[in-house]
Amino acid sequence: MTALPPDIGSARRAFPPGFAWGTATAAYQIEGAVAEDGRTPSIWDTFSHTPGKVDGGDTGDIAVDHYHRFREDVRMMADLGLTSYRFSIAWPRVQPTGRGPASERGLDFYRALTDELLAHGITPVATLYHWDLPQELENPSNGGPAGDGGWPARETAYRFADYAALAAEALGDRVPTWITLNEPWCSAFLGYGAGVHAPGRTDPGDALRAAHHLNLGHGLAVGALRAALPASAQVSVSLNLHVVRPLGDRPQDLEAARRIDAVGNRIWTGPMFRARYDEDLLEDTAHLVDWDALVHDGDLTETSRPIDLLGLNYYNPTVVSASADPEHRPREDGHGSGAHSPWPGADAVAFHRANDDVTAMGWPIDPTGLSDALLTMHREFGLPLIISENGAAFQDTVAPDGTVHDPERTAYLRRHLDAVADAIDAGADVRGYFLWSLLDNFEWAYGYDKRFGIIHVDYDTLVRTPKSSAHWYAEVIRRGGPD
Ligand code: FCB
Repeated sequence: MTALPPDIGSARRAFPPGFAWGTATAAYQIEGAVAEDGRTPSIWDTFSHTPGKVDGGDTGDIAVDHYHRFREDVRMMADLGLTSYRFSIAWPRVQPTGRGPASERGLDFYRALTDELLAHGITPVATLYHWDLPQELENPSNGGPAGDGGWPARETAYRFADYAALAAEALGDRVPTWITLNEPWCSAFLGYGAGVHAPGRTDPGDALRAAHHLNLGHGLAVGALRAALPASAQVSVSLNLHVVRPLGDRPQDLEAARRIDAVGNRIWTGPMFRARYDEDLLEDTAHLVDWDALVHDGDLTETSRPIDLLGLNYYNPTVVSASADPEHRPREDGHGSGAHSPWPGADAVAFHRANDDVTAMGWPIDPTGLSDALLTMHREFGLPLIISENGAAFQDTVAPDGTVHDPERTAYLRRHLDAVADAIDAGADVRGYFLWSLLDNFEWAYGYDKRFGIIHVDYDTLVRTPKSSAHWYAEVIRRGGPD
C-alpha cells in the first residue's frame, strides 16, 4: 500500500504522491465526425437516429466536435493542470467493420490525440469499449443463438479481443493504462434488457448472454493486451458497482438487496476475480438462460485473467426493498422506466431514492456510497483502485458576462473527494480520480439536455467556457487535494 504523506496544513486532505488527477470522456459523447476518415456506424448511431429513442431526437453526429477540436481541448486540460485524461477509442473508427485489419486513418486520430496529451504532460488512459459496438457486429449476420448478433453472440467476444490487439499494437508505445470495458452492466442490461440504450433490445435471456460474453470479451482482451503491450502497462476495467442498501431490515428487503448485488455486481466480479458465477445468481436467472450451454469449459479461466487496477464509476447508491408491485427503473431515476426491466431475475424488487438531495438527473447525492464502495472493493479484491468516473449534471446557466457559475457541482465534487480521502485514510489504495466529465456532452438517452462538464459547451457555436467548478478543480490539483 502507498504510504500516505503527512497532512499539509490543518484542513487539507492528503492524497498519495503521484495521485492521478483526471477527467473522463467517451468517444461517441464528444467526437462527432461520425462519417469521417472511414468510420462506420456503431449501434449508438443507429439507436440515436431511431425516432423516440433519445430525448429531443439528439444524436452524436456532431457532439462537441472534439474530433476536430482536440488540440484546443487538450490545451484547456493543460491549463487546468490535469495530470491524466481518460478517453475512449471508437471501435468503428479503428476497425470499421468490427473485423479484419485496422484503419490507419482511424488510428491516426488517437495517435495525434495521445501525442498532444503527452506533449502537455498529461498521461493518457484509454478505454477500449465505451458502448459503441460496430453496427456490423450487431447485425444478424454475426450469428447469435437466435440468428442475432451483438453481445448476446459469443462471436462478439472474440472480435473484441482482436480489436484490443490492434489498438494496443498501434498505441501501446504511448498509452500506459488500458481499460477494457466501461460499465458492462449498462451494455448488457440497459442495451439488451431494458432497451433504453443501444441497441434497444428487450430480452432478459439476451441480456444475460450479453453479460457472459462481455465478461469473456474482457478476459480475452486482457490476454490480447498483455501480448501486445510492454510489461509496464496497466490493464483495468471500469465497473459501475452498485452500492446496494436495503430499505429496511425485513428479511424480504435483505433478499431484494442480495438479488440486486448478484445481478448488478457479482455477475461481473465473480467471473473476473473469482472465476465463478455465484450459485444464487445462477438460481435467480435459471428460468431465463441455460447457463450450462452459455458458459463453455475454460471460459472462467479466461474471464479471470489478472488485472492491475480496478476502476469504479460512482454516482449514487441503490436503495431497494421487496415489492409486490415492482417498478423497473434503469438508473433508479425513472428514465425509460417501463415494461422492460434491466434486472433479470429480480422482478419483485422496488427501487427507492436514497434521499431528496438530487442532481439534474434525479440521482441522489450521497458521497458515503463512494467511500463504502472503495473500501469494499479494497477488502474484497485487494487491487489498487481508481475512480474512473464521478460527477454531476446540474442546470447550468450562462451569466450575461459569459461566465458559468456552478457552485452545486463544486460542492458535489468537494464532498466526493472528501469521501475518497476518507477511504484512503481507512486503508484503500486509491491511485486516481477521473471527474465525469471534461466537457458538456451527449448524455446517451438524455441527449444534450444534461450537462456534466466542468467546461461548458455552447451547442450552437461549440465555444468552450470553463465553469467555476473547473477553476476550483484546477486549484485542488495545484494543492494536491481540497482544503
Ligand atoms: C456513466 C457513463 C458515462 C456517462 C455518465 C453520466 O454511466 O459511463 O458515459 O454517461 O454515466
